Amino acid sequence: TLPRRVRIVEVGPRDGLQNVPVTVPTDVKVGLIERLLAAGLTAIEVGSFVSPAWVPQMADTAAVLARLPPNPAGRYAVLVPNLKGFEAARAAGAGEVAIFASASEAFSRANINGSIAESLERFAPVAAASRAAGIPLRGYVSCVLGCPYEGEVAPEAVARVARRLVDLGCHEVSLGDTIGAGTPDRARACLAAVAGVVPPERLALHFHDTRGQALANIRACLDLGVSVIDAAVAGLGGCPYARGATGNVATEAVVEALAALGIATGVDPARLAEAGRFITGALARAGAG
Ligand code: HMG
Ligand code: MG
Repeated sequence: TLPRRVRIVEVGPRDGLQNVPVTVPTDVKVGLIERLLAAGLTAIEVGSFVSPAWVPQMADTAAVLARLPPNPAGRYAVLVPNLKGFEAARAAGAGEVAIFASASEAFSRANINGSIAESLERFAPVAAASRAAGIPLRGYVSCVLGCPYEGEVAPEAVARVARRLVDLGCHEVSLGDTIGAGTPDRARACLAAVAGVVPPERLALHFHDTRGQALANIRACLDLGVSVIDAAVAGLGGCPYARGATGNVATEAVVEALAALGIATGVDPARLAEAGRFITGALARAGAG
């Protein structure tokens, strides 16, 4: 059966903006996040505390958090790759931190400069620190339906990493089709394999739309017990370490497709469209439209 309600995790300000070819001013990021809040989105990933040499676009995440209004209905989340990132996130008042591992070795090295095992070792102190600080911990597995360097990725490899993230203390694990390589049948098979070792209520779907399959993939997975979907307003996005990967599935499209299935999201489509116009207009004026 389909879920009655889906929680959308808006990742546009992070996944969407981490890779745009122009510098996005802090003002614009804050303006975008305020509009996303006004549209009814409560779980918003606002940035990351990663090496600014690796991802310069996210270097102002502390400044973004400092200027955001309170988010009583939800949380402002950030990505952290290590303890240094966690400490910065805590100091900046992040409401949730997310660690990010990969199901493929080659992508793990390209994205976070370490093997899968090394990355999990780095995450252990982050998990301990987040637990001690009472900051909820989310996890990502990247390349769940294909890797830009290794090609196909086995569902068992995804399941193994997802389980490790839960064992570390992640309350939720998001399954990332980083390069949008998935098809509905493979997405469903992957989710089914992971759901064998992690309860599907603790999983989220994170599809990029490189080949236009993201909505179909979501639809194929929705009756397997998952009810959290990551999406980016205006379909912004891409990953700097996955060349050619385009944006996340557009939040607008997800909200509309779910509404057509009778599934509530709590998001106001008109206000969401306004947030989309705001950011696409700002990017176009900056020369990245
Ligand atoms: P490294 O070079 O091996 O790190 O990078 P290091 O520990 O050797 O440190 C090198 C320098 O970085 C040092 O500075 C550190 O202080 C600094 P220096 O002494 O040379 O001046 N540094 C930091 N600075 C700020 N914040 C930090 C931090 N850590 C170290 N947290 C590292 C390893 C993990 C840091 C690097 O590879 C990195 O930052 N990677 C992040 C890559 C990234 O953000 N990728 C995009 C997000 S993942 C994604 O998009 C996929 C997802 O959407 C899901 C999906 O679609 O599948 C989540
Ligand atoms: Mg992503």
